[in-house]
Amino acid sequence: MSKSKLLDAQKKLLDWYEVHGRKELPWRNTEDVYSIYVSEIMLQQTQVKRVMEEYYPQFLLKFPSLLALSQASLEEVFGMWSGLGYYRRAKNLHQSAILSRDGLPKDLESLQKLPGIGKYTASALCSFAYNQKVSVVDTNIARVLARYFGVENVKETHLWELAELFLNSSAPKAHNLALMDLGAMVCLPKNPSCTLNDSQEMPLGCQCPFIESCKGANNPLKYYKTKSKVYENKTLHFGICIQDGKIAMKTSTEGMYKDMLKLPDIEKYHHETNLIGSFKHSVTRYRLEVHVYTADSVEEDVLWLPLEMLPNAPISSMTQKALKLSKAILHD
Ligand code: ADE
Repeated sequence: MSKSKLLDAQKKLLDWYEVHGRKELPWRNTEDVYSIYVSEIMLQQTQVKRVMEEYYPQFLLKFPSLLALSQASLEEVFGMWSGLGYYRRAKNLHQSAILSRDGLPKDLESLQKLPGIGKYTASALCSFAYNQKVSVVDTNIARVLARYFGVENVKETHLWELAELFLNSSAPKAHNLALMDLGAMVCLPKNPSCTLNDSQEMPLGCQCPFIESCKGANNPLKYYKTKSKVYENKTLHFGICIQDGKIAMKTSTEGMYKDMLKLPDIEKYHHETNLIGSFKHSVTRYRLEVHVYTADSVEEDVLWLPLEMLPNAPISSMTQKALKLSKAILHD
């Protein structure tokens, strides 16, 4: 790629960002590395709107600094994360705060030594918080780069090389954010703007600034396809057992719900007449069918949680749904 072509593409990208970019996102309007760190962790696997409206401001209000987060208990952190899913993220965030309560490191290498911080998050912090000249590759940026440079079956290491090559060293932060937004708004996985025909409406911001120089513009899907997810079906049976104003719960010891509270399994003892209700729930690669029963007794190693503590307990959205089904019983 010639220098002039590169400069032209970089300029077009920044011009596009200036008009269409999501510059109002709250974590883009701060230089506080802790706030940006919280946002990056929340934004892994959770949509921008949900993070922005339901979690990010509330979390920062409760834990306004790395020090405040390091002094909180894991239960309190889980309480603020409740419903957001992927609780290991919250545990790692808390752990990193304990390990670096006086301040997060300022270089890629040291950041990646903290739990839950991989190459993407470390580069995002160096770029968005510290304004360093580093490239960033997330899934949106990866798609834009693979198509722009026309690379089929692109490998991760190659993507980082392309990002480095393409980086605008005069405005690295805006450049990275612009690439991210181009992927999120224009260079979409299935219907990128360059494939829309005249009869299809172009949403705002959809005119691609790379239409003339992108190698993938004629056949973007050739270069970057989203892998279709392989789902696993599972059926779960939970028991609601309440005695003396306390509900029987269990602490998950493994998997994505590790350290969270869940209802006890009653697979072996359930009885159809005790069925309260059922629902479907999707989480990561699991498609769950959940049945909830009343139970007179449960296995012995349960934790008896006073009912009034339920609202602030670290419980997943699946368990919240199960408890909602049982509302009538809980309020008896
Ligand atoms: N701005 C900065 N990081 C972001 C992210 N991970 N998702 C969306 N917008 C962002």
